[in-house]
Amino acid sequence: MASFPSTFPVMLMISTLMLGSLILSASASNLYQDFDITWGDGRAKILNSGELLTLSLDKTSGSGFQSKNEFLFGKIDMQLKLVPGNSAGTVTAYYLSSKGSTWDEIDFEFLGNLSGDPYIIHTNVFSQGKGNREQQFYLWFDPTADFHTYSILWNPQRIIFSVDGTPIREFKNLESIGVPFPKNQAMRIYSSLWNADDWATMGGLVKTDWTQAPFTASYRNFNANACVWSSGVSSCSSSSPSSVSTSNAWLSQELDSTSQDRLKWVQKNYMIYNYCTDTKRFPQGLPLECTKS
Ligand SMILES: *[C@@H]1O[C@H](CO)[C@@H](O)[C@H](O)[C@H]1NC(C)=O
Repeated sequence: MASFPSTFPVMLMISTLMLGSLILSASASNLYQDFDITWGDGRAKILNSGELLTLSLDKTSGSGFQSKNEFLFGKIDMQLKLVPGNSAGTVTAYYLSSKGSTWDEIDFEFLGNLSGDPYIIHTNVFSQGKGNREQQFYLWFDPTADFHTYSILWNPQRIIFSVDGTPIREFKNLESIGVPFPKNQAMRIYSSLWNADDWATMGGLVKTDWTQAPFTASYRNFNANACVWSSGVSSCSSSSPSSVSTSNAWLSQELDSTSQDRLKWVQKNYMIYNYCTDTKRFPQGLPLECTKS
């Protein structure tokens, strides 16, 4: 697994990235170019000349794909339309992950439900192989009726999870107080649809209804303003025509006051689990990052 030596100075790295940012391509999203189907024996498909990707799940198998590129920081958007109808027991995972035993990972997971009952959107951040940082939310819309944009902003200072441009979670770089932050290991994008009816819906009480199979989730409009990691070199480019003018502002982006208000709104009205308030789970004391924010 390629990674920066831990002593690699971030500022030097960023200036290298700025040079790399001159390479911009203005092509529309083509999912053939960006992703490989990795499993599912024909259950995952790229359709409409690369505009649409679908994953499906039946009793025999789920399916999945991964990005061709590895990234070290990025602002990564994807539109997803989740499994409609009775999706209880199904889980659609969409995440970034590095490799090895001390891996980093940034997770979105969508836990299906009975028709009309709310999906749970589950998030987690692993640094150096350690996670246990779950936050869960309901959404303010039906994620199966239409495509919605799920974004991960990952820069050296913070990780921000957003839905349709509304931030739902921020994980700050708190290395200054001893919390490891993902910043030395390049990550790939992964997604999969699988059966998890032993735990996903109402804690495993509601089982998958296989008469409804195959279950299908859809993906489109992938856009990455990201730094691609290849053979020890990181170069930032963008697949979005509109980002020519905004260049690599995302590399130092933070939440402005409007976004902070939106984040508070989500956390107040839609957050259903926060590891940072789960004192029963951490009798020895809450994780360090929870005491500061
Ligand atoms: C499913 O719906 C039930 C009832 O509204 C709710 O308690 C639960 O959080 C929902 N989501 C999941 C994934 O279980």
